[in-house]
Amino acid sequence: MKIRKAVIPAAGFGTRFLPATKSQPKEMLPVIDKPLIQYCVEEAVQAGIENIAVITSRGKSSLEDYFDQIPELEQFLEEKKKLDFLEEVRRISKLAEFAFIRQKQALGLGHAILMAKSYIGQEPFAVLLPDDIFDCPKPCIQQLGDSFSEFKATFIVLGRVDKEGTKKYGIVKPKQVSERVFQIEDMIEKPGPEKAFSDLGILGRYVFTPGIFEVIKKTAPDKKGEIQITDAIKLLLAMQPVYGYLFEGKRYDAGDKFGFLQATIELALKRPEFSQDLRKYLESLRPFTE
Ligand code: G1P
Repeated sequence: MKIRKAVIPAAGFGTRFLPATKSQPKEMLPVIDKPLIQYCVEEAVQAGIENIAVITSRGKSSLEDYFDQIPELEQFLEEKKKLDFLEEVRRISKLAEFAFIRQKQALGLGHAILMAKSYIGQEPFAVLLPDDIFDCPKPCIQQLGDSFSEFKATFIVLGRVDKEGTKKYGIVKPKQVSERVFQIEDMIEKPGPEKAFSDLGILGRYVFTPGIFEVIKKTAPDKKGEIQITDAIKLLLAMQPVYGYLFEGKRYDAGDKFGFLQATIELALKRPEFSQDLRKYLESLRPFTE
């Protein structure tokens, strides 16, 4: 079954990126020249998803403006014959059909996804967390969507993480089914190295059936009072099989300052207009001094 709708949770405070996020949404921070959120919107669109609900909160209206048309700007660019920019700003406002839904209280990722219940209705849907930028031969969410179609079950994307990663990501207890598919037997949110079941971490892409909403409603809040999607999926596991897919490609944790720097440098190296100059510049910094 084709996935037509996606949910992008973008309601958090962006604390990992303070002070830059004190008065602007983290999702609008530019990696080179595109805001973080655009990377995951484009990934969804490349996978054939045309309807996207962005979950926002107070102070996030620039997200809504970004995907809107701005006739004054278009007219200005037209008059100034800046046609490349004109084409790009028009393209962004036509990328997909957007809906913006407010999460009124910061009650966690699971709760943010629950806000999209009536928007999603009765069909399977994708969730993309904008912190994660994936650079893959086939869009990461499509890799999940294809597996979903084959197995007709909930899928989450998995990646190998190091010791530090066990403190940053949900970690699964996997049973390998094929080279890249794992049935998930258990999972735990940010366990740390001692309690981690494996080195397979949950990265920010999911494909759910609408049944997840009832499960989220039954999920107890964690110690911080937040409803975690990982805890909801753990409940779901007791009712139906859930699978993980070890994605093919590269991923950057751009919600983290260092990951953001890595994404900026590596993605700029892939852009023809920067590649040569940036390579030369990086070379010129060697040998590195304190
Ligand atoms: C969320 C999920 C976590 C997952 C991570 C991926 O955490 O709760 O399980 O590993 O995204 O980026 P957050 O980064 O919102 O704290």
